[in-house]
Amino acid sequence: MSSEEQGIGRRYLQETRYLRSGLGERGPTYPTVPRYKEYPEAAERLVLAPGPHAPGADLWACLQARRSLRKYRDRPLSLEELTALVWAAQGVTLTSPPYLLRTAPSAGALYPVETYLAVHRVTGVAQGVWHLNIPDFALELLNQGDCRRPLVEACLSQQFMGSGAVAFIWTGILNRAMNKYRERAIRYLFLDAGHICQNLMLAATALGLGCCPVGAFFDEEVERLTQVDGVEEVALYLAAVGPVA
Ligand SMILES: Cc1cc2nc3c(=O)[nH]c(=O)nc-3n(C[C@H](O)[C@H](O)[C@H](O)COP(=O)(O)O)c2cc1C
Repeated sequence: MSSEEQGIGRRYLQETRYLRSGLGERGPTYPTVPRYKEYPEAAERLVLAPGPHAPGADLWACLQARRSLRKYRDRPLSLEELTALVWAAQGVTLTSPPYLLRTAPSAGALYPVETYLAVHRVTGVAQGVWHLNIPDFALELLNQGDCRRPLVEACLSQQFMGSGAVAFIWTGILNRAMNKYRERAIRYLFLDAGHICQNLMLAATALGLGCCPVGAFFDEEVERLTQVDGVEEVALYLAAVGPVA
């Protein structure tokens, strides 16, 4: 099959292979963008307590027990549970200037993935869409109110996205990674998101909570919820979390 006859997916993989003759210098270069996204104008800020908080859990037992769970009880999560989940996903574990190294690895320590939360039922935390500010380990409220319906609709009517206590939403800021890795960076965005989601799932398991990843969504609708442009910052992945039914 000639390269013109191949679909875009196969062409992308072919055209972003590292070759002995060159590491992907083909194509345009991209500008640098800030390492961290912050919302100084956020309606509300909630500084979380950094560090692992949850009682110890056996890693091997968590690996054995982890399942994608889609039925949740309607008990709210506590702020401590939410904090532990957020820290497991993207907590800073080592400051090594200019890097803030995290619980999950990232290609080149560039951390192009941004974390947003759609909070449905967490005691003491307003319902709405929040953004995780990494340097401050704080949540920034972008849009207050019940977002269960648009979230479920954005996820192809998967009801569990609205019946969990919180949904994690991950986006990718393209130039944060493309500035270094050019077109190949797109591969790394999704790998980074996968690491983060697995951390979240294992932490949810350790806390006795259920979690389900979601890759089936209408991109534009998720991007509207997180107020990102869908061009320079795009929706990558989501996960619902809630108490096990
Ligand atoms: C990239 C990815 C996307 C997924 N998207 C969805 C989804 O949209 N809806 C859903 O119910 N499960 C989704 N899942 C969960 C899978 O269905 C689940 O991982 C698989 O059935 C194996 O089950 P387990 O996770 O319990 O081991 C997704 C999993 C991955 C890794």
